[in-house]
Amino acid sequence: MRHLITGGAGFIGCNFVRHMLAEHPDDEIVVLDKLTYAGRMENLEEVIDRITFIKGDICDKEIVSTAMEGCDKVVNFAAESHVDRSITTPEDFVRTDVIGVFTLLEEARRRDIERFVQISTDEVYGSTVSGSFSEEDILDPSSPYSASKAGGELLARSYVKTYGLKVTVTRSSNNYGPFQYPEKLIPVLVIKALNNEPLPIYGKGTNVRDWLHVEDNCRAVDLVLQKGKPGDIVNIGSGNEVSNIDVTKMILKHMNKPESLITFVADRPGHDFRYSLEWGRIKEMGWEPKVKFENGLRQTVDWYLENKEWWKTLL
Ligand SMILES: NC(=O)c1ccc[n+]([C@@H]2O[C@H](COP(=O)([O-])OP(=O)(O)OC[C@H]3O[C@@H](n4cnc5c(N)ncnc54)[C@H](O)[C@@H]3O)[C@@H](O)[C@H]2O)c1
Repeated sequence: MRHLITGGAGFIGCNFVRHMLAEHPDDEIVVLDKLTYAGRMENLEEVIDRITFIKGDICDKEIVSTAMEGCDKVVNFAAESHVDRSITTPEDFVRTDVIGVFTLLEEARRRDIERFVQISTDEVYGSTVSGSFSEEDILDPSSPYSASKAGGELLARSYVKTYGLKVTVTRSSNNYGPFQYPEKLIPVLVIKALNNEPLPIYGKGTNVRDWLHVEDNCRAVDLVLQKGKPGDIVNIGSGNEVSNIDVTKMILKHMNKPESLITFVADRPGHDFRYSLEWGRIKEMGWEPKVKFENGLRQTVDWYLENKEWWKTLL
């Protein structure tokens, strides 16, 4: 089996490449990645001899065709992924998260690819104060990031009905773990706390996210790659709903740093209050999250403390 993993040099993608090499050692892996600011060869250093790496853009038809040559399955992690950046430069998001998906889908249908997994996000549902979103709920994205992701996944699902392409979409909650770019909440907090700098928290810090360890997400995506039904959407949540202020306090406690470092800053425009998912469908497929948030968070903080060389050049 030969898999094309796009965005494999980014946070979740590089963890997924490792997962696949560990769990399916006989499969071949091709990674296509543009190496934007978020994609780094360092993330694939330990596994580079075991994969084929192609530097390129998922919007580039020729590169996409070369990368998909001989592949049975495609998993598309490639995306512009940071909500704050989507507010200042939305065009990059529409380009990669919609046109890039389109380019991959066209090549996949030309080659009659056996399985295409489009990685989407819980952010397509928008925010909710109470209850949890099921896969049948309507989409109500708030940012150019989540709207572009919604556009990409709708296009992907249209290829099931229109062309019979075997696409399954995953919508996961917030991931955390090693190799996450230090612009996302958890690495930002760890690095600032280490340097005794103020920890910027949007609004009052009451916004809630359902934290999913990246390894749990990788196991779920692998399962969807094997067993997902064409046209299905699969939510991947973890039941670890924690407010940003509580995450911050847990990190400070683990690092033995004072809560006085917390500094509240003006809220992000259109900041979704809470994301929450029902994940019965992936549970029926035999998946459960394994990493308890307290343990996963401690391991993640320790990874950033032990791998300063990895993030120091990025600040
Ligand atoms: N991180 C999360 O919490 C989270 C949650 C739900 C869904 N997702 C989705 O999971 C996927 C991976 O997220 P991540 O956090 O690893 O993102 P990331 O920003 O860390 O990595 C994205 C990767 O895509 C590559 N890339 C960007 N534009 C490209 C292009 N045009 N062509 C080829 N490669 C390109 C980058 O170089 C990078 O390696 C994304 O689709 C994201 O929307 C992420």
